[in-house]
Amino acid sequence: MNKLLSSTKELSDKYIMNTYKRLPLVIEKGEGVYLFDEDGNKFLDFVAGIAVNCLGYGNKKFIEAVSSQLELFNHCSNIYYNKPQTDVAEILVENSCFDKVFFCNSGAESIEAALKLCRKFGNSKKEGCNEIITMKNSFHGRTLGAITATGQEKYQKGLDPLLPNIFYGEYNNLESIKALINENTCAILMEVIQGEGGVIPADKEFLEQVRTLCDENDILLVFDEVQTGIGRTGKLFAYENYNVEPDIICLAKGLANGIPVGAMMAKEKAAKYFSPGDHASTFGGNPIAMSGAKVVLDEIINQKLLQNVRQVGDYLKAELKVLKIKYPDIIQDVRGLGLMLGVECSISPSEIISECQKNGLLLIGAGHNVIRFVPPLVISKADVDEAVSVFEKVLMKINK
Ligand SMILES: Cc1ncc(COP(=O)(O)O)c(C=O)c1O
Repeated sequence: MNKLLSSTKELSDKYIMNTYKRLPLVIEKGEGVYLFDEDGNKFLDFVAGIAVNCLGYGNKKFIEAVSSQLELFNHCSNIYYNKPQTDVAEILVENSCFDKVFFCNSGAESIEAALKLCRKFGNSKKEGCNEIITMKNSFHGRTLGAITATGQEKYQKGLDPLLPNIFYGEYNNLESIKALINENTCAILMEVIQGEGGVIPADKEFLEQVRTLCDENDILLVFDEVQTGIGRTGKLFAYENYNVEPDIICLAKGLANGIPVGAMMAKEKAAKYFSPGDHASTFGGNPIAMSGAKVVLDEIINQKLLQNVRQVGDYLKAELKVLKIKYPDIIQDVRGLGLMLGVECSISPSEIISECQKNGLLLIGAGHNVIRFVPPLVISKADVDEAVSVFEKVLMKINK
């Protein structure tokens, strides 16, 4: 250990690149829906690794499945088959509108896979049919392709040249999308609920009309469900809430309860444009990640987890709406679906978030004025009561 610097924070700041604006909290362990820091302080976790740890901490089935897989074998190349990967692919395909899946390791990678597949599709129709429309205020990840797709300049500064032929329409504004479509458009990419952008749900009508627009113009519709997918909104996939099927979906975050994983799924009309050698990932579909994903999907599909997300999510939303009435000078709006909720504030959320942390509740911001509630999907009404009581205590203090 470095003798001059002793704390985890100091050592991290010395040795790890300065890309994260971190909060002064060193996490040591988790239990249920709680995290503990190095000093033994306990936090109710409504961040869940940013909508990742859907089963919380210490889920026995998850630990057992991942440990057993580690005993069997930790990794094999994708030049061979492995059963955990096949099992998860089968569950995902049989419970969705898609025909095939490609496994990778993160949300951004699932976006890259989708961008490549869309260009393969477009260019096979007509050379130069490679334009992709994405949305302003979106977030799709940090690789160069994903950051180009992200319709927010603040993330793109200093990275020129970005990927060519990506254009930005207005979310929930059909006319602005229509204006960008031409014979070279191969795909439209969007989130079903803009997460990082401030928990902004798509209008049902907008999604339906974009679907029609894509059908009329032979354009692929891609939903980035990296944050909304895998039960977060009370359905396995958020598109099910809208009855609008995309051609391609991007998944990651909650899929393996914190083991790095990503997936890009597609209907056959798109999937058939990938042939051996077109795309690959050394770790994609790794058996350890897949053994974790299988437990998550089993819990979601066979257990009562989705029902819990809907019931507890509705309860949390109702409680937050009560606070909106009580504190109209601070809370402007409460929105979202299931356990992906946002509270829009008229003051900077960072003060509220930091006060909540001091009082044992972890929350995270989104956009410039929204506080996000994305807890583990297993939380109970009692956990919500605890969170809301801390949140209100902080609002009361700030409101004075
Ligand atoms: C909607 C969406 N897409 C893509 C990403 C990127 O995922 P990752 O950080 O796993 O690359 C995120 C991450 O927050 C996201 O919210």
